[in-house]
Amino acid sequence: MGTCSYGWNDELRTGNDILDIQHKELMTKITYLMAEIENENTKAMSEAISYLTDYIFDHFTLEESLMLKTNYPDFERHRDEHSHYVKYIFRLRQKMLITPDLIDEVSRELACWFSEHILKTDIKMAEHLRKFIQCA
Ligand SMILES: [Fe+2]
Repeated sequence: MGTCSYGWNDELRTGNDILDIQHKELMTKITYLMAEIENENTKAMSEAISYLTDYIFDHFTLEESLMLKTNYPDFERHRDEHSHYVKYIFRLRQKMLITPDLIDEVSRELACWFSEHILKTDIKMAEHLRKFIQCA
């Protein structure tokens, strides 16, 4: 489908300001991680991965609480996608320690997954959230 993007672009906008700011930060940090991998800067790489792991956790928690507060009908499937991604980034962190060669490829997948998740899943959720003005 060619929905894969590295870094932020306007197609990824959900129209929800808080979510868009956080998505932007995430996409930017993933791009930064990819650059540090290229530079073989191990210290910056591991700092970026730690930052991403924490940020993603907080971001998913926010989305999930918004979905719960607004009785989002597709909550479980969306949450499962998040859980899958969290596992994935933990595996990435492990792999980085063991086989640094794989990381370039894997971090591209990280960026791909995230942009596809925004396009296919978050945009739909944001549409639902707009019906609840106090949460949008
Ligand atoms: Fe999401």
